[in-house]
Amino acid sequence: MDDPGSSSWLTGLAARAAGSMSTPLREYVEHAAGAGVTAGEAAAAWGELRLRPHVLRDVTDVDPSVELLGRSARVPWGVAPTSLQRAVHPDGEVATARASAAAGAVMVVSSNAGSTFDDIAATGVTWWLQVYLPSDRTLAGPLLDRAVAAGAAAVVLTVDTPVVAAWHPSEALIWDVADPGWTRVNFDPGYEDQPGSEKALDLGPHDIDWLRERTGLPVVVKGVLRGDDARRCVQAGAAGVWVSTHGGRQLDRSLSTAVALPEVRRAVGDEAEVYVDGGVRCGLDVLTALAAGADAVFVGRPVLHALVDGEAGVARLHAALLVETVEAMRLAGCRTPADTRDLLAMAPDERPHPL
Ligand SMILES: Cc1cc2nc3c(=O)[nH]c(=O)nc-3n(C[C@H](O)[C@H](O)[C@H](O)COP(=O)(O)O)c2cc1C
Repeated sequence: MDDPGSSSWLTGLAARAAGSMSTPLREYVEHAAGAGVTAGEAAAAWGELRLRPHVLRDVTDVDPSVELLGRSARVPWGVAPTSLQRAVHPDGEVATARASAAAGAVMVVSSNAGSTFDDIAATGVTWWLQVYLPSDRTLAGPLLDRAVAAGAAAVVLTVDTPVVAAWHPSEALIWDVADPGWTRVNFDPGYEDQPGSEKALDLGPHDIDWLRERTGLPVVVKGVLRGDDARRCVQAGAAGVWVSTHGGRQLDRSLSTAVALPEVRRAVGDEAEVYVDGGVRCGLDVLTALAAGADAVFVGRPVLHALVDGEAGVARLHAALLVETVEAMRLAGCRTPADTRDLLAMAPDERPHPL
């Protein structure tokens, strides 16, 4: 067995998982919109940023924990919402939740999940619900009520998907070969047959306020790439803004999240939390994202790759990220995520936080 802390384990993760997935599943997981420009640039964009490490600081005790939406998380990364986890492994979201609970990582549960909210919550994980809102907002009610009853700690509103970007798999569409029990088990039966259940094309800031009122939970807006939009979210009452390109699966040619993040952090200031995902693949990426202004980072595809081995695989992913993140923090002279705030090398007027 490889050492879970070695970078080769993380580096080889996607390739190993590919061998265990059917072609439709692999194509679904790796799918990128358009010509794949945004998806292709995501990981490399973290490597374009440069850090100014501190030295002569005691890094004997490093504490990577963060407080997210008023709750402590032992690590500054979480699981991004992804659907069809039960197509990857029979235990699906529950396996991811168990491993994430043990690691002290937040898990964001896709509204299309194939495991019930109650089963996920029973693992003890801190979990947030991800939603797309339908044209008829009232149809979202039962899903939201179920999530609140099961103890969701926040609602993540995905705003980059007024339509699902087209894609053309070489074989069958995964949705056509997927077991119906792998997805959307938290909706009422027949939900999709109801008029008004299609994704809303008219989302606006008022929906943030509506979701907050409707659930009583903090609302995070996922899919923001611009400072001006981030401000609109905060003004509408968002507790968090999540910089994301949906893994490069929506608008191709969108800029990388590593590039967008500092502008969003500057626009939001300390009025809301800022998260980021897209191409985060190692502990150094985690450190770089924190330095660029994120309060936490989220990981999408690597969780699915690790989930090929069920709970043990996801546990190993968390363990490998922890080893690497702590090493990167020590090398940068940072004891806590807050210490990373002045690491990024940028023009003075672009710095996310004053030095
Ligand atoms: C297979 C797959 C399914 C996804 N499903 C959802 C979803 O249901 N809701 C959502 O908001 N984002 C979804 N996403 C986007 C992820 O939450 C996240 O933004 C993206 O995967 C991050 O990039 P990364 O895969 O490079 O880490 C999905 C991504 C993938 C790869």
